[in-house]
Amino acid sequence: MRTDAAAFGEDAEELSKAERWIGDELDRTCAAFDGDELVGTSRNHSFELTVPGGASIPAAGVSAVAVLPTHRRRGILRAMMAALLENSAGRSEPVSMLTASEGGIYTRFGFGVSTMALDVKLDVRDVEFARPRPGGRLRMVDRAELEKHAPSLFDRVRRARPGAVSRSEVWWADLHAPHKSGTRFDVLYEVEDGRVDGFVTYAIKDQWDPEPAHVLNVRDLVAASPVAEHALWRYLCEIDLVRTIKAAQVAVDTPLPWLLASPRAALFQPAADYVWTRVLDVPSALGARTYASAGRLVLAVHDRMRPGGAADGVFAIEGGPDGASVAASTDAPDLTCDVSTLSTVWLGGVRWSTQAAAGWVEEQTPGALTTADAMFASTPMPFPFTWF
Ligand SMILES: CC(C)(COP(=O)(O)OP(=O)(O)OC[C@H]1O[C@@H](n2cnc3c(N)ncnc32)[C@H](O)[C@@H]1OP(=O)(O)O)[C@@H](O)C(=O)NCCC(=O)NCCS
Repeated sequence: MRTDAAAFGEDAEELSKAERWIGDELDRTCAAFDGDELVGTSRNHSFELTVPGGASIPAAGVSAVAVLPTHRRRGILRAMMAALLENSAGRSEPVSMLTASEGGIYTRFGFGVSTMALDVKLDVRDVEFARPRPGGRLRMVDRAELEKHAPSLFDRVRRARPGAVSRSEVWWADLHAPHKSGTRFDVLYEVEDGRVDGFVTYAIKDQWDPEPAHVLNVRDLVAASPVAEHALWRYLCEIDLVRTIKAAQVAVDTPLPWLLASPRAALFQPAADYVWTRVLDVPSALGARTYASAGRLVLAVHDRMRPGGAADGVFAIEGGPDGASVAASTDAPDLTCDVSTLSTVWLGGVRWSTQAAAGWVEEQTPGALTTADAMFASTPMPFPFTWF
């Protein structure tokens, strides 16, 4: 933990980090030593990842990747990453995932940006809702009451959302750790029959001078329906004394701007990368999802980091809305790409044709990109909900 914190320029005594590090899956950590000194850290978490169509597959969440400043650029990350990917392959996890501190590190290891997210800022003085006020009931609750409802609701929501990952108990414990963003509150949204369909955890930092202009930071907003999402955003925008609402990592396909009389009232930062995935086993990963339209494609995928692995070779995908079969093939490829490009597009968050326009995909069969765009599209867009 001290090594990890020092590499990030952070305080090792921070309680939440200690809990996370010590409590969870120590057998999946991987460290580098110089003599007795621990100089590099990394770990895999065991997650479930939802794919288009609603299936869940096991996936590794890579985290705590850090090398001391005294030991950088001599291959320690490369060695740890090889070990982590091997560990995943040994556990039949077809995909590895991470959130990146910097954008330039992980493509070389076969990762690609699979999900994007927006940061949102609202000045509530500009906000007017254009749609009718949703019904239902909002309840401010204590942590014990939140804990009764939030994990099961989240589980329901993440199983319906491609790109979403499961949350461990340790993750929920981290959410409860003290946070710099202000005083914390939890609110549940219940529909008419008493079912909890949404919750929001937020923090308020007060600001009084010269007039009330509190800042509200959204830490976790989870909604099982568009009505619940509307109700929660509306609630936040109508809290007296609050001037500014900030939310980091909001789904790219959020209905928020379209709920407002002026979509400009919500200021969106340009979409940025959220979760990167790394396909380790093409038949298992791509065979688990359904496809928006029926079709057949042959993909040639190059995996320089793991030559001869289950993501290196030629694969035929025959898929549609009811499922897919994916297997190694000797047919001529329709499309050729690197495994990092496949990892970018396979959940449907980024289109094949966009990657091809940037030169990352070769189209051998005319029309194959159009077929691929139609097959791989995902509604809703993939979204992880969870930073790890
Ligand atoms: C990022 C970090 C883990 C890299 O560790 P490292 O041991 O220096 O990395 P390596 O020497 O194994 O480098 C492997 C490759 O990645 C490249 N690389 C490493 N860090 C990079 C960075 N920050 N940006 C771009 N490329 C980077 C290296 O140039 C090398 O490239 P090559 O082998 O293709 O020529 C380390 O700098 C660190 O701890 N940074 C601060 C914490 C952090 O950001 N961690 C990542 C969390 S997601």
